[in-house]
Amino acid sequence: MRADRSTGGVLTRRAACWAAGLCVALMLSSATPLTAQHGRDAPPPAQVTTPSGANPTAQAPTEAQLLQELGKLQGRVTIPDYKASILEQPQGRSYQRFHERILPWLGSILIIGMIAALAAFYLMRGRIMMDERSGVKIERFNAFERFIHWLTAASFLVLAITGLNYIFGKRLLFPLIGPEAFATWSQYAKFAHNAVSLPFVLGMLAMIVLWVRDNLPDRYDAAWLKQMGGFLSHANPPAARFNAGQKLIFWSVILGGLAATVSGVMMLFPFWTLDINGMQIAQYVHAISGMILIAVIIAHIYIGSLGMEGAYDAMGSGQVDLAWAKAHHSVWVEEEQAKTASGRQLGRGAVPAE
Ligand code: HEM
Repeated sequence: MRADRSTGGVLTRRAACWAAGLCVALMLSSATPLTAQHGRDAPPPAQVTTPSGANPTAQAPTEAQLLQELGKLQGRVTIPDYKASILEQPQGRSYQRFHERILPWLGSILIIGMIAALAAFYLMRGRIMMDERSGVKIERFNAFERFIHWLTAASFLVLAITGLNYIFGKRLLFPLIGPEAFATWSQYAKFAHNAVSLPFVLGMLAMIVLWVRDNLPDRYDAAWLKQMGGFLSHANPPAARFNAGQKLIFWSVILGGLAATVSGVMMLFPFWTLDINGMQIAQYVHAISGMILIAVIIAHIYIGSLGMEGAYDAMGSGQVDLAWAKAHHSVWVEEEQAKTASGRQLGRGAVPAE
């Protein structure tokens, strides 16, 4: 019985020694590919020389030299998946640095910077008030235009919130709600982001059809920009249906929206037409255009609601006070009045205020 126990003890100790030895061997064997994966060369093997004393590998390029020269280290695979043959590409590390460091900083600067600028403007200038009211209404946007605006706006807000979750979620939300709730929310957020992109794109295309003509540059833009819309001087520079500031918003939405759409489609169908570098570029374009657009839209929401008295009515009821229209879009009011065949003093759809 005692002999059995002591034999068992010896066996256990031997097994432990073997296991420890195996672990050390495994760690040593995995050390070489690990360092290679991170772009560092494994320590050079002991020099091999031929009987004549020559070293046949002396001229062989190192892994780092190959990587620098070729841009990526690639092997051959027999499965029909080209991506699997790429062993190492430095752009992956640049992308990771962009996604984990540059993008959160860029996003924070753009969004917090815009909110701070608007807050400073509000403190300095206050709400832009109407100087007078005429009591007469003029139609600014018809029901279809308003439907398209709110369809695009609602989809954009969902895209913005779920999109920001990709960048800030794990930093801000995860510590607050914990892993399980964050995982569930992120999964729904991702579904919503993909699904809601469709109404956004449809709304944006409809906006192009509806408003592109009125957003082409005209002779009032330069003076409007020079006076910064009169926002600081309390002046009302002339403007047609859209002033230069609104044109900047419109073109940001269209160009930023198109950039985000094309890059988004590439990400929805990964490796459809792009290789791994192309996929990374699509993500740069998507993230940067999205961030810029969010900052621009924050300014738009401010001026279309809190920032300017009377502005919201244009997209709320569709009717604005004639005095507001004359103050902010004098040329447009003249054009509308000239268009009315009956010679009435009001624009299309004008109705007296109640
Ligand atoms: C959610 C809050 C929003 C509010 C309160 C708002 C408000 C307004 C208002 C009042 C107008 C009419 C301005 C005028 O009389 O000329 C307008 C126009 C417009 N909105 Fe919005 N909007 C919002 C969101 C959005 C979003 C998310 C987008 C696009 C992604 C957008 C794109 C536009 C465009 C392109 C115009 C026409 C051109 C312009 O005024 O810049 N809006 N909005």
